[in-house]
Amino acid sequence: NMKLLLLLGLVAVALCEPTRFEGDKVFRLKPVIDSHVSFIKELASSLKVDFWSPDSAELVTIDIDVDIHVPASHSDMVFIMLDQSGINYEVLIDDLQAAVDGQLDSSTHTRSHDYTKYNNWNTIQDWVISITSANPTLISRTTIGNTYEGRPMHLLKIGKSSGSTKPAIFMDCGIHAREWISHAFCQWFIKEAVSTYGSDPKITSLLDQMDVFVLPVFNVDGYNRMWRKTRSKKSGSSCVGADPNRNFDAGWCTLGASNSPCSDTYCGASVESEIEVKNVANFIRQNRSIIKAYLTIHSYSQLLLFPYSYKYGLAADHSELLSVAEAASQVLGSLYGTKYTSGPGATTIYPASGGSDDWAYDLGVKYAYTFELRDTGYYGFLLPESQIKPTCEETMLAVKYIAAYVQKNL
Ligand code: ARG
Ligand code: ZN
Repeated sequence: NMKLLLLLGLVAVALCEPTRFEGDKVFRLKPVIDSHVSFIKELASSLKVDFWSPDSAELVTIDIDVDIHVPASHSDMVFIMLDQSGINYEVLIDDLQAAVDGQLDSSTHTRSHDYTKYNNWNTIQDWVISITSANPTLISRTTIGNTYEGRPMHLLKIGKSSGSTKPAIFMDCGIHAREWISHAFCQWFIKEAVSTYGSDPKITSLLDQMDVFVLPVFNVDGYNRMWRKTRSKKSGSSCVGADPNRNFDAGWCTLGASNSPCSDTYCGASVESEIEVKNVANFIRQNRSIIKAYLTIHSYSQLLLFPYSYKYGLAADHSELLSVAEAASQVLGSLYGTKYTSGPGATTIYPASGGSDDWAYDLGVKYAYTFELRDTGYYGFLLPESQIKPTCEETMLAVKYIAAYVQKNL
């Protein structure tokens, strides 16, 4: 019995132990000829390589920067292979664990909620409840369903209550779990909206006339680890999860998505196979007559993307979507000089099907935008907490610009 207890204890410790990344490296590769591209794909199939940008080996082409995370155990081998291949490369992060530790700037990390920190799910959940009860006239909360592992997907409606249904904007954060600055932005947005209502004329007018639905954490199960996908399990595969942004009904699993459950861009067993995707899609379908804009927040690359990504053809509203995106990028940059690129997903980042923006657009939500927040790869997903405030402030300007435009064109 003693032995059994000890064993259970060890298992419990092992389960609670977060993954460590001591000595792991992030490389930036610069393929300029086809043989470099095939080299990267071979490397990915022979070693355990975690793609940071683009999102998987299938998306690698010439003339793009390819950022990969390589475990410490393989890094010597990768150096040798890179040198043999003749490809240009640099080491972006020399010790990933040191960078992870550095992402959480303060040594005095507490469990209490902080807009300038990366809060964990429990802290965010407590905050969702408390900010709602503290602002009863501006916020109401619903749950659009549960995640695969049974966690509630809280949705907040921000807006001045009025007798009738108002036109609305839907915004989600954290569809990809490791893009932590995204989750931070949704929290920041809600704080700014409620604290400047009544003093900021733009916010006041917006919340008087419209509602903003905010899903602060889309992929709750995946959050808090170096992870992208959902956490669903599939019989016949030991790999976990599907890419929620390849699982929507928009040219599903045709371009820039993988059929393999082990890929980071796995499109899932079928359209909306991921319960989180189904919950969001159901909510938007049910409210399609009032939802005028769909904003989805990712990182990193500093891009403002709009449809299409599942095909090269231009959206019917292309020129309007482009001019709004360019103006929004302009105001974003006016604060700290951050440079954004805007354009249709397929040509601006890469063709990729099954995305939420394309799906929402084809459903009739005209202003469908994907933000890729800071940075351009120096820290990548490990953006330090010291950048949360400036990133959220500048993003706020762009989101407010788009919202005001939508409001003016109701
Ligand atoms: N980095 C994002 C992704 O790969 C970009 C999404 C752009 N939109 C799209 N429908 N692919 O998911
Ligand atoms: Zn993403």
